[in-house]
Parts: sequence; C-alpha cells; structure tokens
Amino acid sequence: MRILAISGSLRRDSHNTRLLRAAAQMLPPGAELELFDGLAAVPPYNEDADVEPAPEAVERLRSAIARADALLISTPEYNSSIPGVLKNAIDWASRPFPDNALRGKPAAVIGASTGLFGAVWAQAELRKTLRHTGAHVLDDELPVGSAGQAFNDSGGLVDAELDRRLGDLVDGLAREVRAPLESAA
Ligand SMILES: Cc1cc2nc3c(=O)[nH]c(=O)nc-3n(C[C@H](O)[C@H](O)[C@H](O)COP(=O)(O)O)c2cc1C
Repeated sequence: MRILAISGSLRRDSHNTRLLRAAAQMLPPGAELELFDGLAAVPPYNEDADVEPAPEAVERLRSAIARADALLISTPEYNSSIPGVLKNAIDWASRPFPDNALRGKPAAVIGASTGLFGAVWAQAELRKTLRHTGAHVLDDELPVGSAGQAFNDSGGLVDAELDRRLGDLVDGLAREVRAPLESAA
C-alpha cells in the first residue's frame, strides 16, 4: 500500500514535514509512505494552462496522487486557513472535474502550528476542500500545537496521547484502503 504524504509547508525545517516523518515511523505492515517533494514547482492555477499536456509539475502531482492508494496531508495554518501553495495544488489536482485523481481517494488530514491550537481551522478547511473534490476524507484530526516543542530528538511526538492518535489515524487510513478490497474478496 502506497501512501502519498504532502506537507503544506515549503519551509526547510517545517514542523508539518516533521509530522509526516513521524507518521512514516508508524505505518502498519505492508504500507509505505512517499513524501511528495514537488509542491514548490506547481505553477499558479490558470485554466488557460489546464490543457493536455498539463504543465510538467502538475502532471507529476496528478500522477503521484493517482498512483497512491491514500493521501496523508499535513497542513500549517496561515491566517486561519491553509497555505496558498497547498490550495493551489489541490485546485490543479481537482481537474478535470469530476474525473480527477482525488475522486474516491482515501485521505487523512493532520496539522501542526506554533500556536496553541494546532492548525485546527486549517485542518477543517482542508477536509472541506478535499471533500469537495470527491476525495474520501477521514473525520479524524490531529492538532499538534506549540509545534516548536512538540517533537523529541528522534522525531517522534513528545505528547504520548498525540503520538497514540497519530498511530490510530495512520491505521484508520490504511483500513480505509483495505476495506473495499476486503469487501470485494
Ligand atoms: C503567513 C503566516 C500566517 C500564519 N497564520 C497562523 C494562524 O492563523 N494560526 C496559527 O496557529 N499559526 C499561524 N502561523 C504560524 C504557523 O503555524 C507556523 O509558522 C508553523 O510553524 C508553520 O508550519 P511549518 O513549521 O510546517 O512551516 C502563520 C505563519 C505564517 C508564515
């Protein structure tokens, strides 16, 4: 099972990228996590450019999503919402509508912020946007607040409860991938 992880932050020392790396340590057997590294190259959405062939960076994004069995997106909160680069990437991935790469794709949203609330508004916005594209979005959230102090030297979460919730969320995402396969067997 292939999980595509996307960090909504382009920052080198991003807490959200760190959170995805922590999730990668918790995968159930048979799952692998690929951290998408092409977000910065995705151009601003322009319907005039949304033709065949799509811009190379967009093609890369769409095919990485299409190849994945599930998505795990970690978003920072920028002004109570998601970063523009992340929204822009989802806008590209959402086309052509409704036959886009996100349709029916199991997806989970997590987030970290340096404030106390752990990007909860951004996570809610991201779930809403992803649902609109047709992705199958888990209800769970993982609010990692005070992110500057949230990780230990091994890259795991300091807070045992948050650590457990991250593991549960990754397991839940893997179950969503397996559920249709099991019911078809
Ligand atoms: C433009 C901008 C807007 C921000 N707005 C919020 C906000 O609304 N709420 C919040 O909790 N943190 C906000 N922050 C702080 C981010 O949570 C913090 O920079 C976080 O570390 C970003 O994630 P990253 O470490 O993955 O880059 C903002 C930061 C930036 C740069």
